[in-house]
Amino acid sequence: MILIFCVNCSIVSCVTEIPEHLLKRSRDRKTGDGASSSESGGTSGENVPAVQKAAAPAKTAKNTPSVVLAKPDSPRVAAAKSRKKIPFWAMATLSLLPLWGFLYAIALKPAEKVVEGPLAVGSQVYGGCAGCHGAAGQGGAGRILHQGEVMKTFPHIEDMLNFVYTGSQAYVAAGIKQYGDPKRAGGAHAPLSYNGNAMPQQGETYGGGLSEAEILGVVCHERYVVGGADPKSEQWAEEYETWCSPESEIFKALETGGTKFDSIAKDFSMMKEKPNEVGTKARASTAN
Ligand code: HEC
Repeated sequence: MILIFCVNCSIVSCVTEIPEHLLKRSRDRKTGDGASSSESGGTSGENVPAVQKAAAPAKTAKNTPSVVLAKPDSPRVAAAKSRKKIPFWAMATLSLLPLWGFLYAIALKPAEKVVEGPLAVGSQVYGGCAGCHGAAGQGGAGRILHQGEVMKTFPHIEDMLNFVYTGSQAYVAAGIKQYGDPKRAGGAHAPLSYNGNAMPQQGETYGGGLSEAEILGVVCHERYVVGGADPKSEQWAEEYETWCSPESEIFKALETGGTKFDSIAKDFSMMKEKPNEVGTKARASTAN
């Protein structure tokens, strides 16, 4: 920008100011004209023109400039002088260009994504689960979650919240033989039945690193994003609204400490679709 600016300046100055040597040449030419006219209308003596001719250059060099300056400018010079220079407001406007560039660069920067609601929280938390369950829930060291698999195990979100909170070792310790739906298509899941690996506990009572709001977030993510359940379907719309939508009152209350996994069923018993117990101790499934 600055470069263009300077180039403009030099062009403009070229146009407005006639270089000195050109002005001088035009003066000289005029003086020459005067000499020749006096020559033509002058005396007829043979030597006189010669004297005049010889004298003329000296005269031009010494005295002419003051005479020429007194004369009005030639039309070309006058035009150059009266021609408009860069208007003052253009200068002011151009000086704002760097500021404009700065604001433009800021405007181009993508706005940061606003993180809110269970699914937004859950998609971040899932980074810690993906190593075992696969980025798309395709399974690995941990069980397969995608293509509806996790919904088959847990038709009730409360049971899944409980299992993720406690982990499979707590189920083993409590002597519970199955988790999730006992009538699961393909057979109920027993703790440590997947290559003998344990699902690590996530809740704080067991030394896990996730808050209860984060556990709800990641469970929602596994059900509605990784697991592929349709939040608008007749089967899942109610659950989605209650637990996983950005407007979920339960999620908000978990975030602010207004409720806990141990008291959700009581705290939200006024809801049309009452939540089941979640709890923070390993327990038999509420699925039926
Ligand atoms: C160290 C590996 C590992 C990590 C990390 C892990 N899991 Fe698991 N997960 C497992 C294993 C293994 C099982 C099977 C447990 C069993 O058989 O007792 C499992 C099972 C599950 C199940 C039950 C699935 C079913 O259909 O039976 C859910 C739900 C689950 N994990 C969620 C999570 C969530 C949420 C996270 C992250 C917060 C997570 N897992 C992190 C290994 C892992």
